[in-house]
Amino acid sequence: MRILLYTGKGGVGKTTIAAATAVKTAEMGYKTLVISTDPAHSLSDALDVKLQPEPTLIQENLYGQELDVYYSMKKYWGQMREMLLAIFKLQGVNRVVAEEMSALPGMEEASAFLWIDKYYEEKAFDVVIIDSAPTGETLTLLTIPQVSQWWLSKAFPFQKYAIKAVGSMVRGVTGIPIDKGYEELDELFNKLQKVQKLMSNPEICSIRLVVNPERMVIKEAKRAYTYLQMYGYPVDSVVINRIFPEMDADSVFHKYIQSQKKYLQTIEESFDPLPIAQVKHLGEEVFGIDLLKTIATLLYPDSDPSKPLYNESPFQIIENGSRYLLKIHLPFVEEGSEDLRVTSVGQELVIQLGNQRRNFFVPNFLSFYTMEKHTINEGWLVVFYKKKGV
Ligand SMILES: Nc1ncnc2c1ncn2[C@@H]1O[C@H](COP(=O)(O)OP(=O)(O)OP(=O)(O)O)[C@@H](O)[C@H]1O
Ligand SMILES: [Mg+2]
Repeated sequence: MRILLYTGKGGVGKTTIAAATAVKTAEMGYKTLVISTDPAHSLSDALDVKLQPEPTLIQENLYGQELDVYYSMKKYWGQMREMLLAIFKLQGVNRVVAEEMSALPGMEEASAFLWIDKYYEEKAFDVVIIDSAPTGETLTLLTIPQVSQWWLSKAFPFQKYAIKAVGSMVRGVTGIPIDKGYEELDELFNKLQKVQKLMSNPEICSIRLVVNPERMVIKEAKRAYTYLQMYGYPVDSVVINRIFPEMDADSVFHKYIQSQKKYLQTIEESFDPLPIAQVKHLGEEVFGIDLLKTIATLLYPDSDPSKPLYNESPFQIIENGSRYLLKIHLPFVEEGSEDLRVTSVGQELVIQLGNQRRNFFVPNFLSFYTMEKHTINEGWLVVFYKKKGV
């Protein structure tokens, strides 16, 4: 199964591009599912078909699904939900608020992960295309094992293991067997980590950045690219959507189009060597299969979008004489950046970039080496290790 994830700032055309790609891969004969994880769904509108929280057949080989976190919770995490409700009620939170709170932050994304896990295990589809919520949430989705700790420490006054300890109390007061709920919570976290692994495997997953030739959009895409690479996710291309055609100098859009041209160049330079697809503005809103086909032809005129479009690992280890160099792709981070902190703690290399942090477990053999220094070289963080005692 291949997973394609389209991400980008709000309104750039993620849903349109995801749906168009799905129409194309389905026509190529791949059994395709396009799935929307954005709670403000618009996939139904793009495809002009009413979708459900389970896959709906749209046409041959093409299925669509719009996630509903409450539906997913009821289906998969009934006990967990009861447990959360019980815990909140025990704290004096009233039922309606507790219902709301039981859909924890990041749950939407987490439920998407569960569906992906299911489809992967069942080999249900050849291609699963994810139409995601705007950039911020996608990053949450992909860094969720850390978010899970956040849930546990912030959303509950108890720590993870303490939840078990309060189990008998909750059971005494409410009669709800909390252990089952706890098991579901634990299983959920395990699955999240499993899917995260799937999605960092370039043979399985490709992440694609959708942009418009506009300043703020490009800025956000750059930030997303940096963080996605830092967490080891395979970003394989950029889609520039809604490019305006040339217009006369007296057109009201003349200035806008001139600036688009400049930004097209900026995008090419910034994201090189990633392949870049360009899609022009169609001059009308895009909905329905026919217009999506037009978009797909512009996007992928003669390539198979289900395949990886570019493959360079964002993480490399290179032997260099008596040293080892550990290279991590951090595009757009500059030498001397105050946002970047690199520290070595035991077997772990800790990279802090802005408010994001990643802990790398370095290979065992590096325990005979110590971290010497680090530099930034053309968008790569290079960490030097030298042999201990040398
Ligand atoms: N190439 C295009 N030409 C013309 N209109 C387009 C094009 N691409 C997208 N649109 C239109 O732009 C609007 C926003 O597109 P879309 O819903 O795909 O963006 P999105 O990134 O998914 O938004 P959101 O962040 O809200 O989910 C829609 O009305 C869509 O029809
Ligand atoms: Mg959308």
